[in-house]
Amino acid sequence: MSRLTRSAAWIALQDHVSNLRGTTLRQLFADDSSRYPRMTLEAGPLFLDYSKNLITAETLSLLNALAVQQGLPEAIEAMFGGSPINRSEHRAALHVALRQGDDAQPLWVEGQEVRSAVANVLQRMETFVNQVRSGAWRGYDHRAITDVVNIGIGGSDLGPAAVMSALRADTERLNIHYVSNVDGAHLSWTLRDLNPATTLFVIASKTFTTQETLLNAHSARTWFLQQAQDEIHVARHFVALSTNASEVQRFGIDTANMFEFWDWVGGRYSLWSAIGLSVALGIGMDKFRALLAGAHAMDEHFHQAPLTHNMPVLMGLIGIWHINFMGAQTQAILPYDQGLERLVAHFQQLSMESTGKSVTQDGEAVDYATGAIVWGGAGTNGQHAYYQLLHQGTFLIPADFILPLASRTPLGEHHRLLSANLLAQGEALMRGKTRDEVSVELKAQGMAADQREALLPHKVFPGSRPCNTLLLPRVDPFTVGALVALYEHRTFVQGTVWGINPFDQWGVELGKQLARTIVDELAHDGPTHHDSSTMGLIDRVRQATSSPHKPDVRSAP
Ligand code: F6P
Repeated sequence: MSRLTRSAAWIALQDHVSNLRGTTLRQLFADDSSRYPRMTLEAGPLFLDYSKNLITAETLSLLNALAVQQGLPEAIEAMFGGSPINRSEHRAALHVALRQGDDAQPLWVEGQEVRSAVANVLQRMETFVNQVRSGAWRGYDHRAITDVVNIGIGGSDLGPAAVMSALRADTERLNIHYVSNVDGAHLSWTLRDLNPATTLFVIASKTFTTQETLLNAHSARTWFLQQAQDEIHVARHFVALSTNASEVQRFGIDTANMFEFWDWVGGRYSLWSAIGLSVALGIGMDKFRALLAGAHAMDEHFHQAPLTHNMPVLMGLIGIWHINFMGAQTQAILPYDQGLERLVAHFQQLSMESTGKSVTQDGEAVDYATGAIVWGGAGTNGQHAYYQLLHQGTFLIPADFILPLASRTPLGEHHRLLSANLLAQGEALMRGKTRDEVSVELKAQGMAADQREALLPHKVFPGSRPCNTLLLPRVDPFTVGALVALYEHRTFVQGTVWGINPFDQWGVELGKQLARTIVDELAHDGPTHHDSSTMGLIDRVRQATSSPHKPDVRSAP
């Protein structure tokens, strides 16, 4: 057994969960009229109702003891202080320093004063953003830029793309596009309606070695030069966001057109750094700073609030309760806002790339579940797709409902209906519907007894299905900043309690390494050395791509 599962705090939670067996959420609400005020919390612009989780005051106190036992308060201090908490990569994880604002105290990390380095890059971004947005920055034929294409993948795409989609109401002047997939269709479809003379490419890659991003960037350059003709024009149309100046130069982008960030910014935490340039171009620098300020407000709360009244801590610990003690394997994120839908993919990367680990920081195998599968989508669409399984399926699926209280795009009664649906879903998951209630309902409809008996089991809802409800005043740069920072810190809390490193991602390396070999093998004939399945599939792909006539892939060899 691991140290964690042998620990007093862990065992106390295991005992507690067996004592709770048979308790329903409905009962907990009936027994305690102050449950809602006791289990709600405000942090920055966000309001959280966590009362619809199958927890009691004792659960929270035991979870708090677990967090203390696992050194969460010290870990929070270490992160904010710039200690090298990303141990397998010997780095700090200092995304919080990117959004501290001008009043922050100087902080030295790896021989560099972080606060002034951040301020300098923000200043350079501001100058550039103002030039492009005002039309002072001209393309090669002296026309102003109309379209920006961010080329990046993973953390160099998901965060900025999600935030831009959320902040559509704040976007003006420029059209911002995102290309991530190495499927040529993504780039081709994006460029189809664009004019090279008025398009700016932002190549976003922390390492500047990511194959997909480099190939997309090269193809974009070829597309651009087909019209612009002269390499000299590349400088007006390509900028880079990276930590790797030499690779940027090797690609052919002048480092004068590079906006730097640093090793201590993890890819999936990089939206707040130069990687956010596409967002700043879309919404302007003042609003980009408001986004940073929103995240900073959540940082302050996370850093200063006691664990028991700390939103990221509570959400992280309740997640641990579900995963490790109630057997949940997934976490649904359900924003009731069309613009927030892409945040699901960003939160998925944040959580799954950070906590999908099977060994502790010390390299010991874990004997407990770690990161949940994070998934979801916008309401009300999901109600007509996968909510059936949430209500009556055999898995326990904790859900986070997210609702802006005011719409930035009001239209008649739409927002009222949207809000009503979110509130109804939380209530339905919590209460469920008993056999007796179904029976009374069917009787009132005048249904015959035998028909009633047959239909009854299908109409019962078990209830006691957990959810959080997060309310934000409206979707604007400040609230979106706070919301994203909330999920970053929730992930950190979980990683810390599990004793794993939430800032590395070695699990993505093996596939990348094999792809480098296979891409060469697909280009040439000759023997390959893999298992029979992979070799067989390589052969079929080779045949399909070398033959002028596409083979019928359904036919036997
Ligand atoms: O998928 C692995 C990963 O390293 C992510 O962590 C990262 O965000 C993404 O690839 C892109 O990396 P880069 O910004 O270096 O191109």
